[in-house]
Parts: sequence; structure tokens; C-alpha cells
Amino acid sequence: MDATTYQGIELDAETALALLEWQMEMGADMPVMDAPVDRFDLPARPELPPLPAAPAAPVPPPADDDDSAARLAEAEALAASASTLEALASAQQGFDGIELKKGARNFCFADGNPKARVLILGEAPGDEEDRQGRPFVGRAGQLLDRMFAAIGMARDAVDAQAAIYIVNVLTWRPPGNRDPNPDEIAVSMPFLRRHVELADPDVIVLMGNIPCQAALERRGILRLRGQWTEAFGKPALPMTHPAYLLRNPQAKREAWADLLSLQARLESLSV
Ligand code: URA
Repeated sequence: MDATTYQGIELDAETALALLEWQMEMGADMPVMDAPVDRFDLPARPELPPLPAAPAAPVPPPADDDDSAARLAEAEALAASASTLEALASAQQGFDGIELKKGARNFCFADGNPKARVLILGEAPGDEEDRQGRPFVGRAGQLLDRMFAAIGMARDAVDAQAAIYIVNVLTWRPPGNRDPNPDEIAVSMPFLRRHVELADPDVIVLMGNIPCQAALERRGILRLRGQWTEAFGKPALPMTHPAYLLRNPQAKREAWADLLSLQARLESLSV
């Protein structure tokens, strides 16, 4: 594996990537230096000798825009034609315009009570979700259940007031739990929009960076969390993902504040 050096320490590529992702989670998504640099006042660069002519490189095939436009149009048409959640699930499961489908074991549409006032939007199925075909059933899902139990809500609650409904941006597991790429998100969005429309919750919780990227076109969950916003035409609350809370237990205090804020919002919407 390639190695790189960070502050004199040699890191393997995986650790370097984890460090970078950690910094992005913390909101450091822009490279800046400690002191400003006046780039108009920098010494002129020495003239470099011309490079020898490089051998002709093979031209990469152009990005297949027609193909992604066609897949997106098909997703839009399928989603629009579904008039129930069952019909939407079957349309989305049958859609072949997403490569992830080939590598996944099971389709993960939703879990919980579709009549719930709160829709929780997660990222994508992980290993356990892929095995069971249900979102949030691994360790992060167990923490999610405990978090909502603390405010009297559960995915198996029959009463819509106390229930949650859980959906992911992606319904197929990305290999190795990598982040979904923009094409995978784009082609899943028509189904997700229709899903929210049909479930018609009162509020949406955006769990982590990927749902914020998909619904708000913004990342930096540590800055966004706790700030009410609007997604899919509904009040929406970004929160840190339970997987993040498992790695950073000190962030649970803020997550608790966000849960209380959600509870207060639900109460204010009921009166
Ligand atoms: N993380 C998510 O965002 N969704 C799942 O279903 C599981 C883990």
C-alpha cells in the first residue's frame, strides 16, 4: 500500500484517508494556512525548460452523459408512476440503472411505521442491512433505536405520534461501505423524493453528511447539526450519524440536545 508522510510520521494510505475524513467531519473542508499569503508579492518562478514531447496518451472515453441522462429519466418516470409505497418499492427494486444493485445482496427500502410523523433519512445500507434487507439494523441502528427510545419513539410503534420511519438515500449497499458517488445519489433522488411525498412525514431528520448532501446540497454535518432547515418541503433537522456517535461518545451530549429540539418541534406542530 502507498505511504505518505504527515508531520514527519509515515502513514499508510488508509490512515491518511481516515485522517482527512475526520478533518472534514470536523468541518475543515477548506484548505487555509495559519497566516495569509500575498500571492501578488511572491518571487517570480524561474523559467522551466520545455518538457520533451510526451508520447500520445490514450484518450479516455468521454463520460457517458447520454447514458446517465437516460437512467435518470427512467428513474423519474418509474418514481412518478408509483402511487403507493408498495408500488414505489417494487419500481425501485426493479430499476437496473444503478450498478450497486449488482453487488448487493438485498434491497433495503425502509423500516418502521410509514405513518410516522418523523422520517429518518440515513446514508446507505451497511453489511448487516445488506444481509437483512432493512435499514439501520447494525450497531449504528441499535444506537439509533436507543436514542429515539429516550424521547419515547420507536420504529415498531403503532401510534404514528410515537413512531419513526427509516429510509436511506441509497437502497443498495456500496461495496466496502464507501460513500455513495454523485451519480448513485442523483439516480436515487427521484425515488427518494417520491418516497418522502408518499410517506408525508411532519419532519425529517437528516442523519449525517450524505443525507445533507443529497437533500440540502451541503456537507459539514458538525456545522449543520442542530440547525432546523427545510428538505423536500418539510422541516428538517440535521443530526450527527449514530456511527459517528459510536466513535465519538462525547458528541452524544449535542445529539441529545438535537433530540430534545425535535421533540419540542413535534409538540409545537401538534398544537
Ligand atoms: N448507516 C446508515 O446511514 N444507514 C443504514 O441503514 C445503516 C447504517
